[in-house]
Amino acid sequence: MKTVLSGIQPSGRPHLGNYFGAIRQHIAMQEGPDEGFYFIADYHALTTSRDPEKLRESVRDVAVTYLALGLDPKRVALFRQSDVKEITEISWLLACVSGMGLLERAHSYKDKVAHGIKPSVGLFTYPILMAADILAYDSDIVPVGRDQVQHVEMAQDMAGSFNAAFGDVFKRPEALLPREESMAKVPGLDGEKMSKSYGNDVWIFESGKKLKSAFAKIATDSRAPEEPKDPDSLLLFAFLALFTDAATLASWKDRVRAGGQGAPGYGHLKMAIVEGMETYFQAARTRREELLADPAEVDRILEAGAAKARARAVVVRDRALRACGLR
Ligand code: ADP
Ligand code: TRP
Repeated sequence: MKTVLSGIQPSGRPHLGNYFGAIRQHIAMQEGPDEGFYFIADYHALTTSRDPEKLRESVRDVAVTYLALGLDPKRVALFRQSDVKEITEISWLLACVSGMGLLERAHSYKDKVAHGIKPSVGLFTYPILMAADILAYDSDIVPVGRDQVQHVEMAQDMAGSFNAAFGDVFKRPEALLPREESMAKVPGLDGEKMSKSYGNDVWIFESGKKLKSAFAKIATDSRAPEEPKDPDSLLLFAFLALFTDAATLASWKDRVRAGGQGAPGYGHLKMAIVEGMETYFQAARTRREELLADPAEVDRILEAGAAKARARAVVVRDRALRACGLR
């Protein structure tokens, strides 16, 4: 049996990129034989969060989102990162064997700074904390979107450095990407990677007027519907593909490629996206309302998940402490 682990930051409401790039895979994997650990990365969120109430709310929101979308807490552990204090200890041990150069190469750090996020020490050492998350549970598989692959590779490097210095302590993890490339990097409303930090995201449970106005923001050109176009060059099709089965999608594409009287205009495509998304998440939206009405149940689930996670992390932490001479 393998251990599957992943985390998601509670820094705003989970969006379509989070769902198709990560959450959906996490939930699908509970059907398999592996043991799942999924956590809400609240320590990581503190690299940018300055609003305690909002952070608390976001943590709950991520938990409710996972549960509403079908995560079964009886089969996998769902927990808060900060409920496993061993992570911060392991993080220090890894920091002591990590070169500055390794962290300086992190794309995500450079990207965030380029987008105007103030570079704190915490933001810079973020990959070390993430490596601790991964290594603390002897994880084998880390299902993530494309943007996180480098972080998983850094965790491999850190495990390797620690093991080279102190013996065989940490297990080497492997990243697992969604099978379809289009899911590994879902675009945002502006065509860049969808991200909470870039303000181009669409909340998974957005609906009604707000959903319409979100997709209305997608920039299009002034070509008439009749003009034949390459559907794969249109950002709208990246979204339509998320909510439409293969046959229907192919027929939309054919009509756009052919142009003429029967071709849909941009407004028409946007409407199809909105309708597709409303239907796709309808059942989960209802389940979400039920969970929001029962906060004690959500707390209980997170507590039980944390207990299971801690039991693992303590063993790995002790192994690491002994190996390096701190015990
Ligand atoms: P954000 O970039 O919005 O802060 P996170 O970094 O919290 O999102 O990402 C949580 C998970 O969702 C990660 O596994 C990440 O790879 C995945 N993810 C985030 N954005 C996208 C996207 N646009 N496409 C595919 N996966 C994504
Ligand atoms: N850095 C990840 C993100 O922003 C969240 C995360 C934290 C994570 N620790 C992790 C993901 C460990 C996978 C494994 O999406």
